[in-house]
Amino acid sequence: MQNVLITGAAGFIGSNFVHYWLEKYPDHNVTILDALTYAGNKHNLADLSENSKLNLVVGSICDDDLVKELLDRANIDTIIHFAAESHVDRSITEPDAFIDTNIVGTHVLLRNAKDYWLGGENNKPHHFHHVSTDEVYGTLSPTDPAFSETTAYAPNSPYAASKAASDHLVRAYHHTFGLNVTASSCLNNCGPYYFPEKIIPLCLLSILAGRAPPIYSDGQQIYDWLYVDDHSRLCVDDHI
Ligand SMILES: NC(=O)c1ccc[n+]([C@@H]2O[C@H](COP(=O)([O-])OP(=O)(O)OC[C@H]3O[C@@H](n4cnc5c(N)ncnc54)[C@H](O)[C@@H]3O)[C@@H](O)[C@H]2O)c1
Repeated sequence: MQNVLITGAAGFIGSNFVHYWLEKYPDHNVTILDALTYAGNKHNLADLSENSKLNLVVGSICDDDLVKELLDRANIDTIIHFAAESHVDRSITEPDAFIDTNIVGTHVLLRNAKDYWLGGENNKPHHFHHVSTDEVYGTLSPTDPAFSETTAYAPNSPYAASKAASDHLVRAYHHTFGLNVTASSCLNNCGPYYFPEKIIPLCLLSILAGRAPPIYSDGQQIYDWLYVDDHSRLCVDDHI
């Protein structure tokens, strides 16, 4: 496996992941597909701009022709799928983009991967890793046990529902077509390249500007956090 397509890698976790991956596998060819929405930032990858192993393609995972062409042109054998609309608050005010990217876009990737890897006379060695979220399991009260892989799905926001739908599609492509897939459902990440709308930078920036940090609801919620490089390490060591 050495021709890797990483979607959404100009965003927060994806850009950290690309740094992690190229440090671990400097000989791999990495193609990034990112639509550079408001959340994507080319500067997150600026220090890698001279790296001849890295190719940034600006485009959408919903673009069927582009995805098909990229898989073929770069002879992709591994897809690591981060691209998503990821901000819960936005999914409440503007849910359509979440349906398009998180559900339809994931399906465009899966269908093209299936056709490219399994469509010929011989199956190509391949791997599809889907990055999901623990929000598909709903909300924990302070006395609940931690989520696990066997927790029932209970998405509570359009964001979580769209990620849950994409998880089911990934699972179905394995069971129906034999696609080699893995998925990880991570909790909140923190670390470099964090987009300022997320809660830690939002609170820090408010405090630095002399404003009160925003408090959601009654402020009793409990958040768990994982350092973003630990997420990358767990994805690679446990799944890919
Ligand atoms: N941030 C977290 O704490 C967290 C926790 C668990 C899981 N996740 C999941 O990890 C993944 C990455 O999260 P993030 O916080 O880095 O997100 P992000 O919003 O920072 O980045 C998303 C990236 O996807 C790109 N993108 C959006 N729509 C696209 C499209 N149609 N085609 C191609 N690219 C597109 C954006 O331009 C951006 O670069 C998401 O799938 C998210 O659900 C995030």
